[in-house]
Amino acid sequence: MKVDDIKTIAVIGGGTMGNGIAHVCAVTGYDVILVETREEFLDLAISTITKNLDRMVKKEKISEEDKNKALARIRRSTSLDDVKAAQIVIEAVFENLDVKLEIFKKIDSVCPPGTILASNTSSISITKLASATGRPGDVVGMHFMNPVPMMKLVEMIRGFTTSNETFSTAMELAAKLGKTPVPANDYPGFIANRILLPMINEAIYALFEGVGTVKDIDSVMMLGTAHPMGPLTLADFIGLDVCLAILNVLHEGFGDPKYRPCPLLKKYVEAGHLGRKTGKGFYDYSQ
Ligand code: NAI
Repeated sequence: MKVDDIKTIAVIGGGTMGNGIAHVCAVTGYDVILVETREEFLDLAISTITKNLDRMVKKEKISEEDKNKALARIRRSTSLDDVKAAQIVIEAVFENLDVKLEIFKKIDSVCPPGTILASNTSSISITKLASATGRPGDVVGMHFMNPVPMMKLVEMIRGFTTSNETFSTAMELAAKLGKTPVPANDYPGFIANRILLPMINEAIYALFEGVGTVKDIDSVMMLGTAHPMGPLTLADFIGLDVCLAILNVLHEGFGDPKYRPCPLLKKYVEAGHLGRKTGKGFYDYSQ
């Protein structure tokens, strides 16, 4: 598959990441097939995309006409069979290995040979997803960052079996979408999370051991190391359950105790204090 052969992109999952990916693909001019499990989830995804496009119109980044054209390019579906019309499928469903393996088996069976099968996973092995298909060379990781329309990076994950052609086409596609693709090999946490999560974990250990308060730890990292956001604020934004899950992947994947999740992080997750999404994490968002 060459990048110029790509006219239609299927996105599976219309949640936080999937609706952002669909948005960027449609604004760039690609036809998009957005697949969700239920009509109401599609309604939600399309209304989020509409709101985000409205914001772009307000900021004069696109015209009202561009917005309407982009929305018209997005076709909705609740059937995975419909992805067969796409030249590349980008999977962005829950971070659950069994769910993703099922999807990769299914899309492998419906898509013609040569269709690129990509995953937006932040921690699951691309090589493992590829092995569920009969075309491991066509499988690649495209790890977009949240919020997708704003963030420049796409970490491009080359699985153990990804072919050179698939990888270079996916890299070129990410660039056409206005992003900066950066290659990474398929090892736990890839590059971004392998470096970010141990830092967040260390910040939580510093809190756990009483080295500093939540505010002080964040202030030191923002004012002293020029991070735009402190590590504990960022952890709340990512979701503390997601942080714990990624640390577990690093810990199990490398078998190295340096990745062991801080007991305080586990306690927050057990308590259901997951960060912004539940209104409480290291900070209180109830107001
Ligand atoms: P989310 O929970 O917001 O969205 C997942 C969506 O997938 C839901 O709307 C759900 O209805 C849908 N879904 C589940 N099973 C499906 C199926 N069989 N067919 C079609 N749709 C299905 O999750 P989020 O945050 O968007 O994460 C998606 C992926 O992106 C995960 O692999 C995650 O690791 C990765 N990721 C998440 C980031 C984040 O900051 N949230 C950042 C980078 C990657």
